[in-house]
Amino acid sequence: MSQLLTLSRAARLVGASRVALQLKIRSGELPSFDGMVSADDLLRLYPNLKLEEDGGFEQVMQIKERAFGRRVRERMLPSQEILSQRLYEQSTELADLRAHLQRYHALTEALRSRIREQEAQPGMAALGAFLDGQLAEILGAAEAPNALSVMDDMLRVMSAHVTLHPSRHEFFAEGADTLLEAALKAGLAVNYGCSNGNCGLCKARVVSGQVKKVRPHDYVLSEAEKSQGYTLLCCHAAVSDLVVEALETGSAGDIPQQQIVARIKANEALGEDVRLLHLQTPRNNRLRFLAGQSATLTAGETQAQLPIASCPCDDRNLHFHVVRDPKDDFARQVFEVLRTGDPITVFGPWGDFVLRADSPRPILFVASEAGFAPVKGLVEHALSLDRAELLHLYWHAARPAGHYLVNLCRAWADALDNFRYTTMAGGGAEDIVARMARDHADLAAFDVYLAGPEAFIEGAAKALAQQGFPAAQLTAVTT
Ligand code: FES
Repeated sequence: MSQLLTLSRAARLVGASRVALQLKIRSGELPSFDGMVSADDLLRLYPNLKLEEDGGFEQVMQIKERAFGRRVRERMLPSQEILSQRLYEQSTELADLRAHLQRYHALTEALRSRIREQEAQPGMAALGAFLDGQLAEILGAAEAPNALSVMDDMLRVMSAHVTLHPSRHEFFAEGADTLLEAALKAGLAVNYGCSNGNCGLCKARVVSGQVKKVRPHDYVLSEAEKSQGYTLLCCHAAVSDLVVEALETGSAGDIPQQQIVARIKANEALGEDVRLLHLQTPRNNRLRFLAGQSATLTAGETQAQLPIASCPCDDRNLHFHVVRDPKDDFARQVFEVLRTGDPITVFGPWGDFVLRADSPRPILFVASEAGFAPVKGLVEHALSLDRAELLHLYWHAARPAGHYLVNLCRAWADALDNFRYTTMAGGGAEDIVARMARDHADLAAFDVYLAGPEAFIEGAAKALAQQGFPAAQLTAVTT
């Protein structure tokens, strides 16, 4: 049998989402063995995949770029040291395999000469002929290497696959990313505090594989901890594939409040009446939050509590959508005064408008007007996690111009098979719910996330209840 691959590794190789492969397994198109798939079966399903041009890895990068518009390439290459260690690991593995093969070869030769010595015995001549025939067939076959296996070997040099215990969540660590950065980019809420080696909250136990310290840290691990394999996720990178025992955040209530002074990276118009306030936290002090939560921003004497419109998977970047409002001093500052580089104090996070951990259900997001901001954070988080079979976003606005990031929705839909969006201008919450019920006859099979003005949320929740939608599957926030 050809090489077996985990689903996330296979998805990465062919440039598909994990969800897309899961659907193919369920439909019987792709056989699976204990949750793994074979490289040969994958190649049969994706025959046009070429290693040299437009390979799966490239496709994944393009999807990420289109979907998130991030600078995904700039930090893709591991440091020289990590790269050479990974090459060393693979060379060692190759040498082991060679030694193994040589032992089998010697065994086969010894077996062949034994058979020759006893050819006069009944049945031995036939056995010798069988062995010769099989050897000629195996050694004579010039089989082309499986393109996916070759690509997988290459990717193992570029990145490492990490499995967290006990959750069994998986992610890839690539580029110069520490394990903490890589886990956050994959949408995982691992435990951490300072993110710079001081607090010890990111301590985790490496069960198998090798890590390397890539940042100095003041926190001191005891000798006993070191001998048990404990490491700091914020200061170490993966040298090989890893299994790590790590604590993950269960709910919004687990996250402590923090105060951080961030700088404005960009303050730009998203539409006539909405601006994107893009903040960046200091390199050694990122804000710990869950996608969908809010933060209090202070600029000079003005203050506002706003939903975070990005997800922790977006590195140190925090996005906020600020709506023009002459009566709101903070909004006036953003529209008229604040410039790139200005400091903003961020305090938070607040709220529990977050994705249900490990829910297996598909998701419907409903945003009204700038309720799109927290929903955008949730969508990005769900895309990073790549677990939901379907994500359908409904965006309601009084006027078409209210869909101020419709291009982003289009990019998500273009790049991902499991993402759909519907924009509605005018109408009310009841019209949106009626549309949802028409689109999805099995409405009760979904989780629903609602964000928007209070009246809209109340109307939508009431209309959903009238459709028999279970209240326990509804999460809402007013914006
Ligand atoms: S997060 Fe504080 S030491 Fe890693």
